[in-house]
Amino acid sequence: MDGNIQVTEKKQVVLSLVQPTGTPTLGNYLGAFKNWAKMAEDYDCLFGAADLHSITVRTEPKVLKSRIIEIYAILLSLGLNPEKNIIFVQSQVPQHSQLGWILNCYTQFGEAARMTQFKDKSKKYAENVNVGLFSYPTLMAADILLYQADFVPVGEDQKQHLELARDIATRMNNLYGNLFTVPAPFIGKAGAKVMSLQEPTKKMSKTDPNTKSFISMLDTPDVILKKIKSAVTDSEGKVYYSEEKPGISNLMSIYSACTGLSYEEIEKEFDGKGYGDFKAAVAEAVIEELRPFRAEFDRIINDKAYILSSMEKGAERAEKRARRTLDKVMKKIGFVSYR
Ligand code: TYM
Repeated sequence: MDGNIQVTEKKQVVLSLVQPTGTPTLGNYLGAFKNWAKMAEDYDCLFGAADLHSITVRTEPKVLKSRIIEIYAILLSLGLNPEKNIIFVQSQVPQHSQLGWILNCYTQFGEAARMTQFKDKSKKYAENVNVGLFSYPTLMAADILLYQADFVPVGEDQKQHLELARDIATRMNNLYGNLFTVPAPFIGKAGAKVMSLQEPTKKMSKTDPNTKSFISMLDTPDVILKKIKSAVTDSEGKVYYSEEKPGISNLMSIYSACTGLSYEEIEKEFDGKGYGDFKAAVAEAVIEELRPFRAEFDRIINDKAYILSSMEKGAERAEKRARRTLDKVMKKIGFVSYR
């Protein structure tokens, strides 16, 4: 030894997942993916498709399968480096379901019943309020805690689930010693909550039956322009940010997230101009923002062999890490290992 001590600085862990319940929207992109891509260079990142979560809503097997492949190809097209970061499919890593069950037993019924997403979805899918829909947030907590994630980049709508994951982690750490890193949400300033283009007081959602309400990440430039032109606004004709103007404020937030301009700068740019000019500029900014992603996606979606081999690599690497946490948890709880 020459006395050189190699200092390996451990990078902080970032994890986030997306459900394959439809083609992701501009909301998913600006609220989540854009931040994922930014974090991918500096952190130890894991990104994935939450396909186990998506069966809380009934889907045709063929449709589910093609959506999982599509969402995985989308993840591969975001400019993340699959060699550096782990990109995986949740159902291909069995530890998620295993830890999910355990966490169910450390979560109170009342805590899960308070989740606003559960309340909303129970109304929306009243014919199928299954137990999975109820325990959805404990599986999400398992996703995060399995990898000892420090940060979870999500949109505003997932904040309450994140808080529950933190509560469960703290509770189990108090019972058994340090089992889990307590994760912090990472919510970007711009695009944290992109609203529907037709009902701007509701979040933009990929499962909205009105396709004019959202921009899909795979919409063509023509369609993007049309949808933004038909976005609901108001009759005042002046571009400024105000709670009283949810339609224009939403378009400003989209424009700001795509261009990096502040609200004041946007107000100045469109001072004296009408909504027609503003909408055309927003559409142009969105089209430009999605262009590199779209080119990459069109290339990758036709390469099934690359998609499947990346899935395999991702699952193997994720499982190796997930197993470490699950083994530790099971041992601390008192399960018996024959090894
Ligand atoms: P999902 O599939 O609904 O959305 C994926 C990500 O996109 C964000 N998002 C939005 N951001 C801004 N404006 C919007 N209109 C908008 N719509 C969606 C979401 O906040 C999310 O970050 N339960 C999660 C998936 C999940 C997960 C996890 C996330 C499962 N396990 C572990 C983080 C960590 C969900 O349904 O996201």
